[in-house]
Amino acid sequence: MGVILFGPPGAGKGTQAAAICEAMSIPHISTGDIFRKHLKEGTELGQLAKSYINKGQLVPDQVVCDIVASRLTEPDCAAGSLLDGFPRTVPQAEMLNTWLTQNQRSVGAVINIQVDFDILVARLSGRRTCLACGATYHIDNNPPPIAGRCDKCESEVVQRDDDSVETVRARLDTYAKDTAPVLAWLEPRTVVHTIDGSQAIQTVRSKILSAIQG
Ligand code: AP5
Repeated sequence: MGVILFGPPGAGKGTQAAAICEAMSIPHISTGDIFRKHLKEGTELGQLAKSYINKGQLVPDQVVCDIVASRLTEPDCAAGSLLDGFPRTVPQAEMLNTWLTQNQRSVGAVINIQVDFDILVARLSGRRTCLACGATYHIDNNPPPIAGRCDKCESEVVQRDDDSVETVRARLDTYAKDTAPVLAWLEPRTVVHTIDGSQAIQTVRSKILSAIQG
């Protein structure tokens, strides 16, 4: 079964993704992670994505949809996948719907994590990310046991370029304008579980797992 992990920047999508994937035995597809990988490898796509990401804007729909469609055809996605950060516009949702229909696939559920915008600014500006493995931390809520070091791979943890307060505000504006309307598009088409993401990380995790395990 396919699952969409939906919510504003900083809602906790990345934090909760691994537990969902483990519970459902499906791979994690994060469009943001795919762009950051290209950025790190210095590809043309990475350069293109950077020009949007660092302004808090969305990468053009067709670019994102081509990447997701290509990833979904890989064998590990045959039984479903967790789409994290996609779709992010109504045209992306429509393109995904067309692809799923053409390929006899479906999305069984949407996990919609919601958090007030003032909390999100504090979360994102305090977030630290491991550039090697992508693990995320927060300087106050979820610090690595050794300051500045990733607990999982021991690499350095840093602030993402798009986690400055100014860019975070631009990302939240983009979410409100382009991404929030996707929820109204999804609601009549699939089951949407809305979770209060302002609770403790473990509480949010338990509520998500209860929702998807029925
Ligand atoms: P992407 O990487 O997808 O970023 P995002 O959606 O902005 O999401 P984040 O990764 O910032 O937040 P998150 O919800 O994963 O929160 P996290 O778990 O880390 O996209 C980046 C950019 O790529 C976009 O801006 C866009 O330009 C481009 N892009 C990506 N997809 C695209 C698409 N489909 N179309 C077009 N462009 C696209 O948590 C945040 C912090 O809070 C962490 O420090 C964490 O420790 C902490 N935290 C988490 N949960 C809790 C909790 N319950 N309590 C306290 N702290 C918590």
